Amino acid sequence: MNIQTIGVIGAGQMGNGIAHVMSLAGYDVVMSDISQDALNKAMDTIRKNMSRQVSRGKLPEEEMNGALSRIRTTLEMADIGASDLVIEAATERETVKQAIFEDLQPHLKPDTILTSNTSSISITRLASRTDRPEKFMGFHFMNPVPVMKLVELIRGIATDEPTYKACLEVVERIGKTASSAEDFPAFIVNRVLVPMINEAVYVLYEGVGNVRSIDEAMKLGANHPMGPLELADFIGLDTCLAIMNVLHDGLADTKYRPCPLLTKYVEAGWLGRKTKRGFYDYR
Ligand code: CAA
Repeated sequence: MNIQTIGVIGAGQMGNGIAHVMSLAGYDVVMSDISQDALNKAMDTIRKNMSRQVSRGKLPEEEMNGALSRIRTTLEMADIGASDLVIEAATERETVKQAIFEDLQPHLKPDTILTSNTSSISITRLASRTDRPEKFMGFHFMNPVPVMKLVELIRGIATDEPTYKACLEVVERIGKTASSAEDFPAFIVNRVLVPMINEAVYVLYEGVGNVRSIDEAMKLGANHPMGPLELADFIGLDTCLAIMNVLHDGLADTKYRPCPLLTKYVEAGWLGRKTKRGFYDYR
C-alpha cells in the first residue's frame, strides 16, 4: 500500500514530534486535537525544534519550510478520514483511545491503516473495537520523537502482514529503526524501562538515596543519559504510573506494584516537567 497522507491524532509532546518527523520525510500530515490552543502550541514547538535543527546546520531552511507547509491542523475528526495511515497519540487512557477510534470509523477509507502510539495498552483489545483489526497495529515512538531512533512495531493478534510491512516502510523512510514486539503488557521498552524507574522511586521512598544521588548514580554508574527520576519527570509521572498499573494488572505479579510515592505524586498533580513539578522543581 502506498502511504502518502498521515493523520496524527493528538498534538501533545508525542503527536507534535510525530508530525515533525513525518513531514520532514515528505509525508502530508493532518494533525488533530480537541483544542485549538493545543494545535497552536504544537505548531510553535515544531517550528522551534526545526529552526534549532536549521541553526545547527543539520537541516536546510527550504526543507523546513517544505515540511511545515505539509502539516495541516484540524479540530474535525472527519478531516483525518482520508489519511492512508492514522497514528493515534492521545492521552494514555484506554477509554479515550476507544472513543477516538469509534468517532473516526465512519469517516475512514476502507483501506486506511489504524495505529496507536500507546506505550502499554493492549493492541489486540483496541483493534477488536474497530471494524479492521487486521489493519490495526501499535506504532510506538520514544520521546523526544525527533531525536530517538527507535519505533516499536506491535502486531495485534489479527494484524496482517501487508499492514506490518506498510508500517515498517514508514519507519524506514523516516530514518528510524523498528523493533518488533509481541502484544503483551508494555511491550519491550516500557516493560524494562518503567519498572527500573519505579524501583528508583522505591529507592527514594525507602531513603536509600535522595533524588540527586539516585540520578547521579545511574548517570555515572550505568551511563544513562538521564537519571531515572529525571527521566520519570520527562516522560510524565502519570504515564509512568499508568504503565505500572497496566503491568501490574496484566501480568498479575507483585513485582510490578507501583511505588506508593509515585502514586502520591500523581495524586498531588506533580506530574513532572509538564506541570513544572515532579521529583524536580521546574518553576
Ligand atoms: N525535541 C527535539 N529535539 C530535541 C529535544 C526535543 N524535545 N530535546 C533535545 N533535542 C535535540 C537537541 O536539539 C540536540 O540536537 P543536536 O544534537 O542536533 O544539537 C540533541 O537533541 C541533544 O540535546 P541536548 O544537547 O539539549 O541535550 P542532551 O545531550 O542532554 O540530550 C536527550 C537530551 C536526547 C533528551 C537525552 O537526555 C536522552 O537521550 N535522554 C533519555 C531519553 C529517553 O530515554 N527517552 C525514552 C523515554 S521512554 C519513552 O519515550 C517510551 C514511553 O512510552 C514512555
